[in-house]
Amino acid sequence: MYRAPRGTADILPDEQPFWRYVESTAAELCEQFGYRRIDTPSFESSSLFLRSVGEATDVVEKETYTFDDRSGDSMTLRPEGTAAVCRAYLEHGMHVQPQPVRLYSVRAPMFRYDRPQAGRYRQHHQASVEAIGDADAAVDAEIIELAWSIFSKLGLNDLTLLVNSIGDQVCRPGYLDVLRHYYQPHQDHLCADCKRRFQSNPLRLLDCNKESCQPYTIEAPRTVDHLCAECKEHWDQLTGYLDSLSLPYSVDHRLVRGFDYYTRTVFEVQPPVEGSQSAIGGGGRYDGLIQELGGRATPAVGFASGMERLILNLKRQGVGPPSADPGPLAMVAFVGDAARNAAVKLAASLRGKGLPIMLAPPGKSLKAQMRHAGALNARHTVILGEEELTQDVATVRDMATGKQRQVPMTGVAEALRPS
Ligand code: HAM
Repeated sequence: MYRAPRGTADILPDEQPFWRYVESTAAELCEQFGYRRIDTPSFESSSLFLRSVGEATDVVEKETYTFDDRSGDSMTLRPEGTAAVCRAYLEHGMHVQPQPVRLYSVRAPMFRYDRPQAGRYRQHHQASVEAIGDADAAVDAEIIELAWSIFSKLGLNDLTLLVNSIGDQVCRPGYLDVLRHYYQPHQDHLCADCKRRFQSNPLRLLDCNKESCQPYTIEAPRTVDHLCAECKEHWDQLTGYLDSLSLPYSVDHRLVRGFDYYTRTVFEVQPPVEGSQSAIGGGGRYDGLIQELGGRATPAVGFASGMERLILNLKRQGVGPPSADPGPLAMVAFVGDAARNAAVKLAASLRGKGLPIMLAPPGKSLKAQMRHAGALNARHTVILGEEELTQDVATVRDMATGKQRQVPMTGVAEALRPS
């Protein structure tokens, strides 16, 4: 028997109310904050992610689904959305619009070949926002406020907001020297990944969660102590805004995030359980990315949240979508061949009036049809038999109370509408 590929999941009808709830809550808040929806393709040229996410990152080194298409071009299923949105910003000349251009996506599939476990999948879906074209720390604060509003409105109220600044191309090289200098004597004691990171991506030494590396990461020099004047001012402004918005953030000096494109602000939202793999959302500023992709220097900041993890945490907290799937309003049941034809027509005409209607399965007794309607949560059954046909009426049964009444064919829609 075929099964869904490892690390992927079917989103079955019973799960859809959760997805609709998360999707509509995120979309409504994004629109309220002035963000407009964008959808980009599920795959892009491989080089887009190499240049943006970075060659020495875990995602590009180990996790991309990359293939040559039939014309020999290297394509990659997108592992994240920011690079693709920046590509679209450039391709469609969005720099001529009022800046920042505020964009959001929901239920966008992402692909990472990772070891699957609870909350970590090979295909996941993100809700994300990007504000492109403004360097002001007020926009960073807006993005964080928007992320926090989405979580709060969904009903998630035990999350932790972590922020940090990792500097820019002016101050980061100096900081990395300090960091390497600090780690140099400890190299032999580091885990295999960190030995590699020491050479290729030293910033990521800070967020290693292996037990053996903890003593070194805790004592490591802090990025915020090595910011240049501009980054320091930006950081002070950001924390000032977060204070005045009363957002309950903590500064996490070890927060660096996994992609090369980040500059200055980085932030993450964590649930109370599990380790660093369990971030429910994260983002930050990426002032160099648009230029790296061939555009003019254009500052930007954004955020993304994994919808599977949002739903896992809603369930953990016992928060459900506001209303369960109501099922169809009515099922049209019939007895005999002549009634079958009339039932097909009646169902079509009721649907034409906007009512959610299903036709009973053919070849079953009336009793079995009623059981079917009950199993599907239909609120009414409309019954057509020989007697109904001769009198041009239908019998409408309320499935909750079992009460039945006959109504003229022309009055069925009215009888079904919730009063
Ligand atoms: P990210 O932190 O890699 O950032 O992913 C964002 C969120 O997607 C994570 O916090 C997590 O909730 C979810 N997620 C990531 N990987 C998986 C996985 N394998 N399984 C399930 N959920 C996952 C980004 O993708 C950046 N593009 C965010 C951003 C937008 N930065 C600036 N703008």
